[in-house]
Amino acid sequence: MFLGSLLTVLSAAAGAFAAAGQLVQGTQYANLADTHGFIVIYPNAPTAGGCWDVHTNATLTHNAGGDSLGIASMVRFAIANYGVDATQVFATGTSSGAMMTNVLMGAYPDIFKAGSAFSGVPYGCFEGPDAWNSQCSTGQLIKTPQQWGDLVRSGYPGFTGTRPKFQFWHGTADTTLYPQNFWEDIKQWTNVFGVSQTPTSNITNDPLPGYSRASFGPNVQAILAQGVGHTVPEQANDVLNWFGITNTAPTSPPGTSVPPTGPTSAPPPPPTGGTVAHWGQCGGIGYTGPTVCESGFSCVAANAYYSQCL
Ligand SMILES: *[C@@H]1O[C@H](CO)[C@@H](O)[C@H](O)[C@H]1NC(C)=O
Ligand SMILES: *[C@@H]1O[C@H](CO)[C@@H](O)[C@H](O)[C@H]1NC(C)=O
Repeated sequence: MFLGSLLTVLSAAAGAFAAAGQLVQGTQYANLADTHGFIVIYPNAPTAGGCWDVHTNATLTHNAGGDSLGIASMVRFAIANYGVDATQVFATGTSSGAMMTNVLMGAYPDIFKAGSAFSGVPYGCFEGPDAWNSQCSTGQLIKTPQQWGDLVRSGYPGFTGTRPKFQFWHGTADTTLYPQNFWEDIKQWTNVFGVSQTPTSNITNDPLPGYSRASFGPNVQAILAQGVGHTVPEQANDVLNWFGITNTAPTSPPGTSVPPTGPTSAPPPPPTGGTVAHWGQCGGIGYTGPTVCESGFSCVAANAYYSQCL
């Protein structure tokens, strides 16, 4: 019987890799699962725009319904039927999938052991009647650490177990989910773990030139990517290291700093003109980059806030 880890990989809005099906090809997780022997679930957001419900009270609350319960049910099914080690269950996602990763950490801390979110928002930041929350997305929803922490604790009232450790990535040039959400995330998760908002370490140029990896003890890690927009590209091996699924990633040992390796490995600059590559963002409220897709692709609106070259 298989007794191993389970990874939940959450899709972005329709299209950042189009949908869950394309995440299989668009990320390295399927290959890495073969190498390291874990199971991957790729849930697909059910709405037309492909965005997860991260705003209703139901989805934000343990076992109350919504998309988060749909995902939790898949995980529970896999644990019950595929011999998954229930103590080794993880979630990662990009954009809307990152927001859902935050939701899962808050509402299902009993299921998930760790999470990693690429370009998301704090748990509860989208809370409200509408699927999209512009106040949150533009980084104007500011709360105290206590308020953010209380929101997480309200996701599963009475939960007293160990909370999942949480890593999040954000680009400083993100105009879809503004980088203020990175700083609000730090307030939230340091409060949840009762640790200082001052990093215990902050390693520059890790894992890429222009990135910095700030740790707040062993359970909270915040990686800021200078000049990177929406979304920060997946770093699958790094994420698996964080989860402890594998320790083979070519990253630096703790406490050291990797110098930039040269101009060819610099992070992509914010968009200034020209054309957008396949899968790239080409429009949406707040977006200021180029809107013309490279040859062979056209700009398709996923929702008012996100258009993409498909
Ligand atoms: C959901 O609604 C209940 C009842 O109004 C409230 O007590 C709870 O705090 C809400 N949960 C979240 C996560 O906002
Ligand atoms: C970590 O250091 C980098 C480079 O100095 C800085 O830009 C970033 O804001 C720091 N991160 C945190 C969370 O303080």
